[in-house]
Amino acid sequence: MLTFPEHFLWGVSTSAYQYEGGDVPNQWRAWERNGHIRSRDLRGRACDWWENAERDLDLCAKLGLNALRLSVEWARVEPARGQWDAKAIERYRSLFAAARRRGLRLFLTLHHFTHPIWFEERGAFTHPAAPGAFAVFAARAAEYFGEFCTDWVTFNEPNIYTAFGYLLGEFPPGKRYDLRRGMLALLGIHQAHAFAYDRLHAAQPEARVGMAVHYAEFEASSRSLFDRWLRDAYHLLFNQSSLHLLRQGELPARWWLPAARLPDVRGKIDWIGLNVYNRFHVRFSSLPRSPGAAGLWVPAEVPQGDPGTDYPYGEACPPAVRSAVRDYSALGCPMLVTENGVPDRADRIRPWVMVSTLREMHALIAEGFDLRGYFHWSLVDNFEWTQGWTLRFGLYQLDPATQERLPRPSAELFRRMVAANGVSAEDLAGCAESPPPRPIAAPLPALPSTCGRAGSTSRSRC
Ligand code: BGC
Repeated sequence: MLTFPEHFLWGVSTSAYQYEGGDVPNQWRAWERNGHIRSRDLRGRACDWWENAERDLDLCAKLGLNALRLSVEWARVEPARGQWDAKAIERYRSLFAAARRRGLRLFLTLHHFTHPIWFEERGAFTHPAAPGAFAVFAARAAEYFGEFCTDWVTFNEPNIYTAFGYLLGEFPPGKRYDLRRGMLALLGIHQAHAFAYDRLHAAQPEARVGMAVHYAEFEASSRSLFDRWLRDAYHLLFNQSSLHLLRQGELPARWWLPAARLPDVRGKIDWIGLNVYNRFHVRFSSLPRSPGAAGLWVPAEVPQGDPGTDYPYGEACPPAVRSAVRDYSALGCPMLVTENGVPDRADRIRPWVMVSTLREMHALIAEGFDLRGYFHWSLVDNFEWTQGWTLRFGLYQLDPATQERLPRPSAELFRRMVAANGVSAEDLAGCAESPPPRPIAAPLPALPSTCGRAGSTSRSRC
């Protein structure tokens, strides 16, 4: 039996846009309506949280969880600049109160990829006034919701937001290889984090303010200098930009990287969240063949979840949590795994992913790393951004049309681990072997040139 420390946090992670449903004046609504969802699905009611989140809070209670990560939709709270929506604020307050009544400690994310259209139209985080506007929202969040929560996540994955929005064209604003704006957005987000950090602490002295970063393992496909250089570049830019900004207040000096200093950001972090899923293999020579994904590929023989609409999601890689924890321990603050999971409709490898990740985490804690909790992504199947309903991450299967939920075997496994505050010898033995790989051997494809096509129709695929 691997037992975790007392007070270890067991939770699930969710986000407003992927769970709440309904019509929200944020930049993703426009993106979705303009036909950018590859699967052509529409989000619709999503998991119906705006009306009925309590049904899933009951599932959290059934699993015995003591924590929940969820986000506030800025566009609901401040739909027009300077206008605060009392009804939306009240709905959030009743939702958070309901979660607290079920014994869930709340980790509240203020930006999980979405923001109001008025903010997007001004250039989002590339605009010099953006950090100030975000800090005002953070201060209001503390005022309205501080009664229910002291654990704040200012941003979810600045690295995914900027890479997908400014380099790959997968997220709004849909820019491709716009390095200049991508860098401005990345820096704007970290400046916004620092301002929000100060405002949250001013409003709530007991606040614990963190950020969640996505951490992917990158492996060079050969010993060639080019493959290794590309691997290092990915690692530095994708995995370590937030680390360097939070630790040193600047990006590391490299000849190919513009110097960037944000002294204000340094040290403004009370805990760090690590979102850890997968590993990508890096091959310089496949750059021209996969311009969209720039030399990333997934070998056929590695464990993988379900592929997306047209590419593999990545190698499912529980040991990636080791590198993430080792790297980010340099911040000297507590760490949480704020997301871990796999798209796996048939629950073929999810149990292995959970148990193996927790086994790694247990070993890391024994080595002295300050790891405080595990949040699974996610409770129920939810709307997976440009992949729509194609990728299914839930412990519970969801039919978005009927809103029926059915537990996957992983839900019961998770309940057992939460109840035991650890992983039993039987569950460890049951997941000892790596699962067989899926028969996929495709390089990640170039992004479609059809971005911007209109007229998608709703097509729920359950
Ligand atoms: C994001 C989630 C997303 C999950 C699975 C994370 O990068 O924070 O919003 O659904 O990965 O792809």
